Amino acid sequence: RGKRAFIAGIADDNGYGWAIAKALAAAGAEILVGTWVPALNIFETSLRRGKFDESRKLPNGSLMEITKVYPLDAVFDSPEDVPEDIKTNKRYAGSSNWTVKEVAELVKNDFGTIDILVHSLANGPEVSKPLLETSRKGYLAAISASSYSFVSLLQHFLPIMNPGGATLSLTYIASERTIPGYGGGMSSAKAALESDTRVLAFEAGRKGNIRVNTISAGPLGSRAAKAIGFIEKMIDYSYANAPIKKELSADEVGNAAAFLVSPLASAVTGSVVYVDNGLHTMGLAI
Ligand code: NAI
Repeated sequence: RGKRAFIAGIADDNGYGWAIAKALAAAGAEILVGTWVPALNIFETSLRRGKFDESRKLPNGSLMEITKVYPLDAVFDSPEDVPEDIKTNKRYAGSSNWTVKEVAELVKNDFGTIDILVHSLANGPEVSKPLLETSRKGYLAAISASSYSFVSLLQHFLPIMNPGGATLSLTYIASERTIPGYGGGMSSAKAALESDTRVLAFEAGRKGNIRVNTISAGPLGSRAAKAIGFIEKMIDYSYANAPIKKELSADEVGNAAAFLVSPLASAVTGSVVYVDNGLHTMGLAI
């Protein structure tokens, strides 16, 4: 039987999540998606109206099928955590059962088990502020949406993951080197995500024979990255300075992801894998 993957963090066809879904679909996996609740409507409408058909094309000419899209807000673990203003917000009121625990339950009821869990989401409301000017609230929100969201997803999905399965998240080098402009505690959130990758690799490895890795990706002009504001500069910088002189495509991250969650990588866990044209190796920009 083919593998079944749940990919959290797809709301259009531009980001890393979409490219990972395509690479996994091309390798024969069944694709389930978790989409941020406020973005659900437009994503589903666009899918239905064929807006993504061109980018759904797989190497063999067929179109990627998404078996099911689940509304998800990964900053809430269970219904008790949802504050009144969110509950009654009209972008949320039309959907239900979108906390992490409930989505895991729905996937269990619909499909029983999964083999692959991908976390391709991040949010930092104060990302454009330097860390020195970041509020406690903004910092904790960045950690909640970008780091704890992975802990929570793994916590709730591990019981329905088949042994031998694998999980993956996306990180950024701002965790270990200073990238001015990547603020709001987002650098801290990525550092936490990478540290958690090691600890969770041990815990999930021993508990369920599940692997945990993270890809440190180079810059991509996704929706989230454009919101930060300096992505074009980062893409130019990478082009000018990385060992491999080309623009990074989302598909290259998708392909590395497909390797990491496949049996080809059965001994790789707890790793930060760089998919960035080698930019991380450079100590001097020339
Ligand atoms: P994207 O915009 O395609 O993906 C981010 C997704 O997170 C969006 O679909 C958004 O709706 C979703 N999201 C935000 N808050 C959420 C929540 N509370 N619950 C559920 N979903 C939520 O952008 P991108 O850039 O592809 O991001 C994917 C991952 O790649 C992120 O972890 C990002 O930090 C990472 N990354 C991106 C780089 C870039 O240059 N674009 C570089 C290195 C890492």
